[in-house]
Amino acid sequence: MSSVLDASPSAAGPAASSRVLAGKVAFVTGGARGIGAAIVQRLARDGAAVAFTYSSSEAPAQALVAAIEAGGGKALALRADSADAAALTQAIDGAARTLGRLDILVNNAGVAVAGEIDSFALADFDHTINVNVRAVFVATQAAVRHMGQGGAYGRVITIGSTNSDRVPWAGFSVYGMSKAAIVGLTKGLARDLGPRGITVNNVQPGPVNTDMNPADGPLASNMHGMMALNRHAHPDEIAGMVAYLAGPESGMVTGASLLIDGGFAA
Ligand SMILES: NC(=O)c1ccc[n+]([C@@H]2O[C@H](COP(=O)([O-])OP(=O)(O)OC[C@H]3O[C@@H](n4cnc5c(N)ncnc54)[C@H](OP(=O)(O)O)[C@@H]3O)[C@@H](O)[C@H]2O)c1
Repeated sequence: MSSVLDASPSAAGPAASSRVLAGKVAFVTGGARGIGAAIVQRLARDGAAVAFTYSSSEAPAQALVAAIEAGGGKALALRADSADAAALTQAIDGAARTLGRLDILVNNAGVAVAGEIDSFALADFDHTINVNVRAVFVATQAAVRHMGQGGAYGRVITIGSTNSDRVPWAGFSVYGMSKAAIVGLTKGLARDLGPRGITVNNVQPGPVNTDMNPADGPLASNMHGMMALNRHAHPDEIAGMVAYLAGPESGMVTGASLLIDGGFAA
């Protein structure tokens, strides 16, 4: 039986002992910046060929592809709005066709619209659900059609949030709801896909230093005061947990929502 450890070196470059994803293909939504870009870079470093979507960040997307290819890896940037189910499905099918297979899906693209109930617009509610929840369903449905071929290996990983469980400020009800939905979706999908050798997990960060939540933003010190570790995470720290879940050592982890929040929810 083939395993990821004995997979032949991919087009991503020369094999090395740490390249546990050599021969695998990953697809990351929202990969041009923030946590998504850190995930794209880490999976490429681990040997995977990585396709990723962007919606508005075209220049950063092309720069990221160039940087990975300059390092001997393989990457592909595709424009696809996660709120557009047809575009997202087309991007996944196109990536699988171009790169020859698909083994790992990372649902990372997300939006955080803040606002209290009296003023929260229905359009913002719908957009949050479309990007943070509906797109996870759409991408997973499209991706698993390509997984498990040529050896039972499949990984679906979603970036949720510690706010699925704790919402310690006003104005984050809809965001918290969207991330709580991922907890249930992850459990059910794990049951659907376990028999096919596909694991499904949810990574739940606390504060991470990105455009969405800058470490020097107005809420930062308030957040740090709630944490056991009083700082924002670096996006690479989230990518490290994703790399573990994407790799061969996590084969018995499925249906799990894993906190990486510096003790925010402790
Ligand atoms: N930062 C935090 O503190 C934190 C904490 C917990 C969870 N998270 C979660 O982590 C994920 C990444 O967040 P981040 O901090 O990296 O945010 P960010 O810096 O705001 O980046 C958001 C990413 O999502 C993409 N995106 C947004 N709307 C999209 C759409 N309609 N279609 C396709 N892509 C779209 C963006 O792509 P474009 O630039 O191309 O538009 C960008 O790549 C999100 O799911 C977020 O909820 C973040």
